[in-house]
Amino acid sequence: MTKDAYTLAGEAAAALRSAAGLDTFDVALVMGSGWVPAADAIGETVREIPFTDLPGFRAPAVAGHGGKIRVVRTSSGRHALIFLGRTHLYEGLGVDAVVHGVRTAAAAGVRTLVLTNAAGGLRPETQNVGDPVLISDHINLTGANPITGTTFIDLTEVYSRRLRALVREVDPSLAEGVYVAFRGPTYETPAEIRMLRTLGGDMVGMSTVLEAIAAREAGLEVLGISLVTNPGAGLSGEPLNHEEVLEVGRATAARMGVLLAKVVDRL
Ligand code: HPA
Repeated sequence: MTKDAYTLAGEAAAALRSAAGLDTFDVALVMGSGWVPAADAIGETVREIPFTDLPGFRAPAVAGHGGKIRVVRTSSGRHALIFLGRTHLYEGLGVDAVVHGVRTAAAAGVRTLVLTNAAGGLRPETQNVGDPVLISDHINLTGANPITGTTFIDLTEVYSRRLRALVREVDPSLAEGVYVAFRGPTYETPAEIRMLRTLGGDMVGMSTVLEAIAAREAGLEVLGISLVTNPGAGLSGEPLNHEEVLEVGRATAARMGVLLAKVVDRL
């Protein structure tokens, strides 16, 4: 991007406020693949704004990743921005494009960010396909970082302890885990999955970590939730495919929607 990425996010936020007819928003949620069907439960739709109407956004490249921002009013009167789809690093648009939605939400006044994703499970001993897992920390193996220069951001608590405790009040059965991100778009090899287990990872995917870093730079409080859609490569003997990821999302939409709705109303 030639124009400064933060300036562009400010322009997108102004366009978003005007398209939504609202001055500020309480929370933003990024719906990963598999999570889009859960969005309907969060509240009543006020407006839907295609990404392509806002400066700096691209239509998502992946089937099942949506491509718009839904402005929602929850039952308790809060306003949420729901990103139906995200840009991934593997699309080759650069790291600023990946975090543009987060920077736009921050510039539009959001203080709390909920990042969801679909992930491979690295602990089939304890994880079931279809389980949501709270992200307690991450390992960034994308080789990228949204911040350039001498801005040394503390990442001791990227994923808010307070927000994790709040989600566990809603559903005490939820486990926590460390999310590892690769650039993708290939799924991992079985040798990489064995390496990630040794490194202390619990879930693996291709998103979230760069957005979480950009959110911490902007001072947002971050909640991350993975939906385990498959055991990591080589752990089950089955090949992986994107359709299975979307199918698990459809099958669990009701549970994830209720969970998110309750969490948003308690923020
Ligand atoms: N690996 C990486 N990303 C994923 C996976 C996986 O196994 N499942 C869903 N997203």
